[in-house]
Amino acid sequence: MMKNFLSQFSPTPKLDVPPIWLMRQAGRYLPEYQALRKEAGGFLNLCYRPDRAEEVTLQPIRRYGFDAAILFADILLVPHALGQELWFETGEGPRLTPVRSGDAYQWDQFHTVLAPVYETVSRLTVSLPKETTLIGFAGAPWTVASYAIAGRGTSDQAPAKQLMAEDPAAFQSILDVLIEATTQYLARQVASGAEVLQIFESWAGSLSGDAFETACIVPVQKIISNLRSMGISVPIIVFPRASTYDIVTYVQETGADGVSLDQFCDFQDVIDRLPAHIVSQGNLDPELLITGGADLIRAINDIRDLTQGRPHIFNLGHGITPQTPPENVALLVNHIRQDVR
Ligand code: CP3
Repeated sequence: MMKNFLSQFSPTPKLDVPPIWLMRQAGRYLPEYQALRKEAGGFLNLCYRPDRAEEVTLQPIRRYGFDAAILFADILLVPHALGQELWFETGEGPRLTPVRSGDAYQWDQFHTVLAPVYETVSRLTVSLPKETTLIGFAGAPWTVASYAIAGRGTSDQAPAKQLMAEDPAAFQSILDVLIEATTQYLARQVASGAEVLQIFESWAGSLSGDAFETACIVPVQKIISNLRSMGISVPIIVFPRASTYDIVTYVQETGADGVSLDQFCDFQDVIDRLPAHIVSQGNLDPELLITGGADLIRAINDIRDLTQGRPHIFNLGHGITPQTPPENVALLVNHIRQDVR
């Protein structure tokens, strides 16, 4: 039997009940995550310890029986493994020592630093229920570069845009290293047992026109074509969050098999124009999962109606927030599975 999730990418997708998983399904909204995070003493002590990362990946699967598990790691492990210092300030998010050029990166420890992540993946191939699909992931080069250049999260990605404008060659050298590193990282995840890959372009919305094509489309297109030329055939989902560039064009130009849609896009328009074999994913507003109730049920039904008859994976438009009551997640999963309307 083909797994429900993977069947969406096959010529004969199961279209009755959509598979479901949620971005950031492992995380702070779960008390069992909070407990292990406290014991570990830091976020990176979860990511780089295969036993803990495995456990955290499994927590939401045990609670809700999602159709897919996403590897517990972070998009910023890639620059970290290239020698860039990374730490997480409690309550403030990631901090890195800023880079200004790809020359700052070092390759010698890359796979050694990431070896625990590959081990987490291979452990999960054993411990996950047999019907659950394992998703590997990485950040897209532009999104990762926006943190690497600024040394932190920014609301407008101004430092990265400034480097792009002032020193395009230096900016490109960073993208080039990240393209190669991300290709190798994802290839190792697949070699270790990842069955699907998702590439997060969380800051797609800050670029448009030529800059979007150079910094968002080309790097992701290169990563996907590199993986294909290495003989890697697993489905690849892209996530151009808050994109102002046409999403259907983005999917076709990058060569992805599926696209995760955020709550800001014109969902009906994208669904109408998306080629029938491209899997859609999304796009419930994470805020509705905080409020729950009738508004949540109505929004779930709307997504079900609009995606009826096409391969679709139910998900949020962005990550689940720490304030989400765990019982609302149960409500969502039950509603999808029972298909009561
Ligand atoms: O369950 C999962 O989705 C798997 C693990 C996962 C994490 N981060 C764990 C995490 C995934 C897929 C990511 C992706 C990620 N990380 C993105 C892209 C997706 C998105 O949300 O836009 C980005 C931009 C990052 C970088 C990052 N990591 C930021 C900005 C932060 C701080 C903000 C926050 O949510 O805390 C993190 C930390 C982080 N990554 C946490 C988790 C569970 C919280 C860490 C903690 O304090 O316990």
